[in-house]
Amino acid sequence: MREEFVLDTAVVREFIDDVRETIAGAASPNEACEALRPRFAELLADPNWLPAEYQAAAPQSGMGGGIGQWLLYRAEDQSLSLFALVVPSGSATPIHDHLAWGLVGLYRGEQDEEIYARRDGALELLERRYLVPGDFYALIPPRDDIHRVRTTSADTSVSIHLLTNDTGCVWRHSFDPASGEEKPFRSGYVNVACEDDPR
Ligand SMILES: [Fe+2]
Repeated sequence: MREEFVLDTAVVREFIDDVRETIAGAASPNEACEALRPRFAELLADPNWLPAEYQAAAPQSGMGGGIGQWLLYRAEDQSLSLFALVVPSGSATPIHDHLAWGLVGLYRGEQDEEIYARRDGALELLERRYLVPGDFYALIPPRDDIHRVRTTSADTSVSIHLLTNDTGCVWRHSFDPASGEEKPFRSGYVNVACEDDPR
């Protein structure tokens, strides 16, 4: 696979360059996430870099609920991806994991985020957070890797994900809220295929 700048702009290229340099110089995921914070905050605060097409809902998406996962960048070895997750008002993602560390932050709208842990096969709700634009958090599995987000604003929410895998194309898990049962889950991206897609 080759490196893909789906959104090929100077802002995205400079951001990814900085991110790759920071990750290369960090001794651990924790250290990398800390070091990436100012640069990620800067991206979230920039109102102009993300075109409207990547802030649109997607009726036929793998997430359901009109939720659109738009790929903006991915690395040639699938070790890094940047994508926008668009969740219409009132919609919620399934409870899901990511299987990679990175940063997730809100760009538009408002969300409630619920973080879960697995305990004896069941799901335990650890925390509920209310997010407004500019808020962001680190995901470092296994801690904080299982969550669900719901858009609470009247407008669609858009969150920006910087994760160290090709999140839309890896097989990960969704979870039944009541039983905690996990199922194989692949969200896909609205705008690009995964390598082993049948289409
Ligand atoms: Fe997520």
